[in-house]
Amino acid sequence: MGRPARATRLAVLISGGGSNLCALLEAIATDPSFEGEVVVVGSDRSDAGGLQHARDAGIPTVVEVLERGADRAAWEDRLAARLAEHDAEVVVLAGFMRILSGRFLARWPDRVVNTHPSLLPAFRGAHAVREALEYGVAVTGCTVHLVDEQVDHGPILAQEAVPVLADDTEDRLHDRIKAVEHRLLPACVRLLCHDRVRIDGRRARILPADDAPVPSAVPPDPDPVPDPQPAPDPQPAPGSEERP
Ligand code: GRF
Repeated sequence: MGRPARATRLAVLISGGGSNLCALLEAIATDPSFEGEVVVVGSDRSDAGGLQHARDAGIPTVVEVLERGADRAAWEDRLAARLAEHDAEVVVLAGFMRILSGRFLARWPDRVVNTHPSLLPAFRGAHAVREALEYGVAVTGCTVHLVDEQVDHGPILAQEAVPVLADDTEDRLHDRIKAVEHRLLPACVRLLCHDRVRIDGRRARILPADDAPVPSAVPPDPDPVPDPQPAPDPQPAPGSEERP
């Protein structure tokens, strides 16, 4: 198990306000052992609020708008090329509202990670929080997973439940889910930076930290950042057009 001696180069893709981007930047800034560096922030929208956070942090930004009716493969190639110009090694989808094809994913095999505001495989797609609320679930949550060619489907790195409250609105529930995402996404990105994720079919196995004792001998992980909870074995579900 080789742990890189230098920071892993991270590209972050956003479409919205970028609170998950901010949480990742904060986690990197406050954890000297994170071993990750955001080298570029990309968006499909020039008005994505998160772009300003990137600029404020002095991080290069790229915007590739997908015009209606435009050649999607060409758009994706341009976006990938612009991330590659920054030698990105891991791509973090932090509220990126576009589906990426296998052609894009093949450039970063098992190195594209997404956060989704539901307990997958429930409520895949762009309206996960609203649909969970409308369905009347008592518990929803968030999922951080590697991205494959199906929507909100790849191997799960971490999940955490968030209870639905009686007077919840979509915004209130989403805010509480985001508060969890802000912890879970950086923790999972950190695992990728430390090369501690192994994929076996749909299952993601998290390797112990380099300096951890043999797990059966001493259970607690000495890592300063708590590792996310291991994911259960999810079942596939039908896809939809946009990724939330
Ligand atoms: C997050 O809830 C994420 O799961 C979903 O979009 C939201 C992005 O929020 N895909 P932000 O832009 O990071 O604030």
